[in-house]
Amino acid sequence: MEVIEGNIYDYPKYYDVLFGADWKAEYDFLLACFDKHVRRPVRRVFEPACGTGRLLVKLAGAGMEVAGNDLNPKAVEYCNARLVRHGFAPTARLGDMSDFKLRPKAHAAFNTINSFRHLPSEQAAENHLRCVAAALVQGGVYVLGLHLTPAGTPLCDEESWSARRGHLSILSRMWSIRIDRRRRKERVGFTFDVYTPLRQFRLTDELDFRTYTAAQFRRLLARVPELEPVETYDFAYDIDEPARVTSQTEDVVFVLRKR
Ligand SMILES: C[S@@+](CC[C@H](N)C(=O)[O-])C[C@H]1O[C@@H](n2cnc3c(N)ncnc32)[C@H](O)[C@@H]1O
Repeated sequence: MEVIEGNIYDYPKYYDVLFGADWKAEYDFLLACFDKHVRRPVRRVFEPACGTGRLLVKLAGAGMEVAGNDLNPKAVEYCNARLVRHGFAPTARLGDMSDFKLRPKAHAAFNTINSFRHLPSEQAAENHLRCVAAALVQGGVYVLGLHLTPAGTPLCDEESWSARRGHLSILSRMWSIRIDRRRRKERVGFTFDVYTPLRQFRLTDELDFRTYTAAQFRRLLARVPELEPVETYDFAYDIDEPARVTSQTEDVVFVLRKR
């Protein structure tokens, strides 16, 4: 099979086939979270690192004003084309989630599948949280989902799944290559095996994610007091089942409220 080394985010169509199918549990959870934790109606939502807009387009369909930013121009273009195709304004912007301003402010923001861990340093992460806080109205929430690095135990470190849209089908594999706890870096490998009637090829990529133990994440939050942690959940996305964070926790969704 032909092998192409590339950035998976430069292929939004393939990313969206693989991740776009998985929107419903997150979407239902976000609506439930807004309902439970925001003390006013949520009409405007913002997604930092919005990628292909798989969740933004659904929230726009539910009547919300949506906006997002992403560092990757191809993702932004894809997201805006999708919004326009569904009759909404092209409100995704090219931008860095650790350096942006948003007006009007949003009632809620969200970032669900580890995108936050792309921020390479503590300073970038802190800047990001400050930008999000400044982008939210008072009482608005930021729903932030990520994998923590549990203390001491080996991680479950490989995932494989496939998805199909029309004549395009993709088999994906994602695995942890190494974790450097001292430098706070996890190197993750990806392959997308892409099958179309005319062509088959493998796209390969490796990305760095910053690591956080529960304690490291708590210390980061303490530096941004504008955002108050109000509840935590896990990737089961069950609004009726908050999950306590311990040193062994792996997947977590923080609900942070703007003071
Ligand atoms: C795992 S994807 C998630 C996309 C989308 N949030 C979703 O749930 O499908 C991560 C996205 O983060 C974007 N990204 C990485 N670093 C970024 C930064 N500093 N600012 C904005 N976007 C960034 C990438 O371009 C990519 O589209």
